[in-house]
Formats: sequence, structure tokens, C-alpha cells
Amino acid sequence: MTGKAYQKCINPDCGAEFECRAVTDGFKCPKCGELLDVRYNWDRIGVPDKLSDFSRRWASRDKPLDFSGVWRFRELLDFCDDKYKVTIGEGQTILQQNDAVAKYVDMQPGGLFLQYEGLNPSGSFKDNGMAAAFSHAKMVGAKSSACASTGNTSASVALYAHSCGLKCTVFIGSGRIAFGKLSQAMDYGAQTIQIQGDFDDCMRQVQDVCIRLGLYLLNSLNPFRLEGQKTIMYRIIEQMAWDVPDWIVVPGGNLGNSSAFGKAFHELRQLGLIERIPRMAIINATGADTLNDLVNNKKLVWNGGRVDRAVIDNYYADLTARSFSPHTCASAIEISRPVNLKKCLRAIDVCNGVVRAVTDEEICDAKAIIGKYGLGCEPASAATIAGLRRLRSEGVIAADQRVACVLTGHPLKDPNLTVNYHKERQGQFSNPPIEAPNDLEEIIRLIK
Ligand code: F0G
Repeated sequence: MTGKAYQKCINPDCGAEFECRAVTDGFKCPKCGELLDVRYNWDRIGVPDKLSDFSRRWASRDKPLDFSGVWRFRELLDFCDDKYKVTIGEGQTILQQNDAVAKYVDMQPGGLFLQYEGLNPSGSFKDNGMAAAFSHAKMVGAKSSACASTGNTSASVALYAHSCGLKCTVFIGSGRIAFGKLSQAMDYGAQTIQIQGDFDDCMRQVQDVCIRLGLYLLNSLNPFRLEGQKTIMYRIIEQMAWDVPDWIVVPGGNLGNSSAFGKAFHELRQLGLIERIPRMAIINATGADTLNDLVNNKKLVWNGGRVDRAVIDNYYADLTARSFSPHTCASAIEISRPVNLKKCLRAIDVCNGVVRAVTDEEICDAKAIIGKYGLGCEPASAATIAGLRRLRSEGVIAADQRVACVLTGHPLKDPNLTVNYHKERQGQFSNPPIEAPNDLEEIIRLIK
């Protein structure tokens, strides 16, 4: 391929290549059906010699592409002309060092960092991916878009589609979406289709609908979306004064983030921009723990791209035979057939990764701690701190290491869960409101 960027099948026995302008059915390789990557001819791109060179963009923040937390790293995702690039100001996110949360997970002060992606325009990390994917959509002249979602993707798609003039349809599982997210999809003007089923059912349907109606698919099967999500790692490094942490901890749902993060670090090392790759911990909820089960119990590995397909097929056949539907209070990661499974296995290989599953109780308690001592987050994001606590107790992560946890979504995404946790005293950190009569003396007596 002669351009700056191209698409390539991840199956080493296929390796088919396509122009970036090609939109294959469901973003899968038309030759073998595998996932596609965006790859770069780095020698044709003016990538800076060192990461700190990206700092110069801070001086020209009046330019939207330099302000964007995605596009200010544009040489590292150079797949389209500036004229197609879409931004609504995504990626102005904070890496917060947090000693109180560090104490909760039994880490030494100074070493725990929370990357708060809830600050994005639609309140979740998805906006990083959508800035990139909608730019590709514009480049290929798409008019209508669609996604399946546990909620955040639909909110983000709706916001970006509206801002760049595309129509959009979002598919959500009936009763499986947190209220904050549903309210956003409707408010941002998406056509919202509630399917009687779970996320995995929606994901299957949306792929077929996109092929039949020629809609542009915005789920993380879309490799251009993952290019945008790489920038979360660049921003963590940026905020650590261009150094890498020892560990990245991320929740695992459809496994787009973990896949993107692994690719980001692989490329940075390939380019000589970092010397070492951090380790990665991917955290499932126990009620939706396909990755955990396949990696830790079935010993599934990347194996140079020759993943043992039979293990996955048997696993999914068993889920079907049992009519299994995943269940967790962290509805964002309530997924049992993650579409990026193989890319995630590759990321585990690149980052010497580990996988754990944590219970809903652990997630809710961790969420309350992040709320009390940090900037707050939605349940799926709190799986990171619950997972980190587990990995600390196992000694996999040491107390003096530097760990960055990705808090993927805003606390107001799922107010019902938060109110129930506190009001119904569901956990050890519940902080219920106190009923008071409309009487000054009584009220004063209640204040501690
Ligand atoms: N955290 C939040 C807040 C999410 O919304 C999601 C995924 C994840 C974590 C998991 O990320 O798929 O990259 O492993 N939400 C998708 C959605 C599935 O439809 O909004 P992943």
C-alpha cells in the first residue's frame, strides 16, 4: 500500500490489505472474515522524534484540531486529510493522582492515577473513538450511521452524528441501559430502537442492518474508532511528563479500549517514542466474564495471530445452549461475546497483560470510594479500582508501582444505581440522606 495509511487483516495467514477508503461489510476482512487494523507507512508521516514535541500544540489551542485531545496527536493516527477531521472538543480529560483511593487499594501514596474520561463532551471515553470514526465516515461520504450499545456508544454516536450532519440509529437492549445514557440518545436526536434482547443480540442485528441498508457502523469493530481511543494512552503519558506508568487498568466489555491501548503502545515502541510498554490489567464483571474465563481457565492466547478458534466456538456454543445472557450492575460491560476478543488477546501479548473478574459488590464499593475521594465515575469504570485492589491483594501489582486506571464514564450516567446504593444501604460505604422534620432545632441537632 502506497499511502500514509491502509487497512490490514489481523489474520497472519490472510494479511489482506485495503485502502482506508474501502468500507468492507461490518469492517471485517472480505477474504477471511477477521478483524481489520489501521496500519501506517510511518516513513511517509512526519512523526515527531519525541513525544514531548506534541506539547507545542498547546500553544495553538485556538485551532480546533490542536485543541482536540485526539487530533493534537494526529501524526499517530494519520489516516485522513484535515478537511475530513471531526472534533467537538473531545479529550480534555484529567489524570488525577489520588492517594485516598490508593490507600483503599493498599498502594503507597503517589503511585495511583485516575484517568477521568467522564469529562468528554458526551460523558465517556467513546468520544475519542467517535472523533476518529466520524472523520472516516465523512471521508467515505457516509450519510447515515448506526451502532449497537450498552448506552455510551449510543450517546456519543448521537452527539457526533448530529454535529456532522449524519443520520443515526442506535440499537439498545430493552431495559439494559442506564437512564443517563438513554436520556442522551433521545435528547441528541438519535432514532433509538430498543430490541428485546441483550447487547450481544443488538450487536448481531446492527451488523446485518448496516449491510442491508448501507449504514456506517460505529461499534468498535470499526478500526478507525480504535485509532481515536489510542489517544487516551497518549494523554496519560503526556500528563506523567511523557513517561509511561507501570500498569494500565481498564474495564473490559467489547474490548475495544484494551485492543486500542495495546496497539498504541506497540506503535510507540516501534517508533522509538517509548522505551518500555506498561503492563495492562483488563477487568471484567463476574456476570459477564468471557475474557476472564477464556484467558484464565481455557488458556486462550494470541499465539502470533493463530488463535485457537475452536476454543472460542465451543465457548459460544455453550453460551447459546444454556441461553446465557450476561448480568451485571455495570451495564456498560454486560457483554458476553466481545467483538474485539482477538485484538484484545494481541494486546495482552504486547503488554504482558492479566485479566480478572470482580463482583458487582466489589464494583459498587469501589465506585463509592472513587465518588467520595475522586471525581466519581459510572459502575463499569469502578471495575478498575476493584480489580486493582484484587491484584494488589494477590501481589501481582506491587504497592510502590505507578498505576493508571481508566475511569471510562461519568457518575451521572447511572444515577439510579448510585441512589439505590446509598439510599438502600446496599454497601459498606453507603451514605444515605437523613430524614428531618421541617424544624430548625431538629435540623441543627442532626448535623454532625
Ligand atoms: N466502560 C464504559 C463506561 C463503557 O461504556 C464501556 C463500553 C466499557 C467500559 C467497555 O469498553 O468495550 O472498550 O471494552 N460500552 C459500550 C457501549 C459497549 O455500547 O457503550 P470496551
